[in-house]
Parts: sequence; C-alpha cells; structure tokens
Amino acid sequence: MKGFFHPQILENFEIASSNYNKQAKLQNGVAWRLAKYCTRLNIPKGSWVDLGSGTGLLADALETCDPKQGVLRVDGSSGMLKRNKAGSLTQLWDLNLGLPSWSEQPSLLASSFCLQWLSNPSQRLEEWFASLLPGGWIAIAIPIDGSFPQWHFAAQAAGVSCTAMPLPSKQSLLETIPVQSIRFHKLLRFTETEDDVPAVLRTMRKIGAQTSPKSSLGIKEWRKINDLWPRSKKNGVTQLTWLIQLIFIQR
Ligand SMILES: C[S@@+](CC[C@H](N)C(=O)[O-])C[C@H]1O[C@@H](n2cnc3c(N)ncnc32)[C@H](O)[C@@H]1O
Repeated sequence: MKGFFHPQILENFEIASSNYNKQAKLQNGVAWRLAKYCTRLNIPKGSWVDLGSGTGLLADALETCDPKQGVLRVDGSSGMLKRNKAGSLTQLWDLNLGLPSWSEQPSLLASSFCLQWLSNPSQRLEEWFASLLPGGWIAIAIPIDGSFPQWHFAAQAAGVSCTAMPLPSKQSLLETIPVQSIRFHKLLRFTETEDDVPAVLRTMRKIGAQTSPKSSLGIKEWRKINDLWPRSKKNGVTQLTWLIQLIFIQR
C-alpha cells in the first residue's frame, strides 16, 4: 500500500483536536504500552522525538517512564500541538515532506497511530531509519491491514465500497528496513464496542480519523452496511476490531 495523501487528513485532525484526548482511549492505552516497551531498550544518549504526536499522549508516557528525558513533539496540526502539556517542546511540520532538519540525530523516533496517514509509509520509515543516530531506535505503533474485519465484511456483503482508512501490511511497511535491524514486533488486537454503526463512525470522527480516499456513501448504502454488520452474539453490540502492530527497529 502506497498510502494516500489528502489535505483533508490534517484538517480533520485539526477540527478534532479540542476533544481528542476525551475520545482517544485506545490511542492512550497503546501509547503507554509502547512507552513501557521503550524502557527495556538500550537507547543511546540523545534526543527523543514523537512523530505525529497529536496532543502528546505518547510523548507524555515516554517522559513519565523516563522523567529525565524530554521528548520533542512533531505534528502537522497546530491545534493538536496546542493541546500538549505546558512547557512541552513542539514543532509544527508536515511529515510528508520528510523529517525536519535537527541539529543532532535523534536516538529515539517514536510514533503512534500516525504513519498510516502519511503518503508512502514504507518510504517515510526508511527516511526515519536513515536519520537515526547509530544504535538509535524507532518505536512505532500502527494499525495494520486486517483491522476492521466487521466493516469490510458488511461492505462486501452489501456490495458497497468499504470507506475505512486503507492500512499497510506489516510486510509492505518493513520492505525498506534491513531484516537484522527489526529487533522486535508484537501484534495487539483490540475490539471496541458501540451501540450501532453510526456510533462507530461518530467515534472515528471525534478523533479526526474519518478521512478516506474513497467517495463517501449515501444513506441507503450505510443502511445496508448497518444491517449486515456482524453483532456480538452475547449482547448484540456493534464491534470494531483494530489490529495494532508494534515495531522496534534499531539502526
Ligand atoms: C490519530 S492521531 C495520533 C496522535 C498521537 N500520536 C496519539 O497516539 O494519540 C494522528 C496524528 O498524526 C498527525 N498527522 C497526520 N498526517 C500528518 C502529516 N502529514 N504531518 C504531520 N502530522 C500528521 C495528525 O495531525 C494527528 O495528530
């Protein structure tokens, strides 16, 4: 998957920025998992950066786990950056342009729930890898292909297009990285539950993650998807499963 670029992506995150933290429970949980894994890495002394930091959930978790280490927060949405905790170091930057030039090479590039929004994620990852201090690390969390099986099933059964965000596979993402540098990876699976399909879509919108390269659907098409979306056998709730890939790479 080459990813897709659309100005709407950043615009939707900008609009969602004021309420992001209230809604981003999954993102917060994953940020903490990633930060805790980082405490086990032997990271050389140097600068740490959170790429696509949003409101700083991952950077905050990293700083809490290692209070002596500040983390630069880089994002393309000024609204998101404004919501970082007071005194944070932030940089407004469009990551589709590559990385900003910093005075020193970073020893940790961390990123959670961002890479899939960038154009050509595997190329971005290659650039990030090349920019690291020798011995430095990349720690990423990214939803991958195979996520949202309920949505894909319902759309296919209804004969309409699935407008869920396109996601890369782990293989395509890592095609530019030397195999021996991929130190560790772990797949996490989370299932969100909502009352109905409109509630699932509302939750996506509230975190700004609704942008799709596909044309939007009409009400009739959504009704068909709603009718065919698999419900939990136990209590009838609508489920949405995310597959989140954690990847740790050392240069
Ligand atoms: C789902 S949010 C994740 C934020 C944060 N990492 C977290 O886990 O809560 C995705 C973030 O990526 C940022 N983003 C998307 N495209 C970007 C781009 N081209 N350049 C910089 N940031 C981008 C958005 O502004 C948004 O803050």
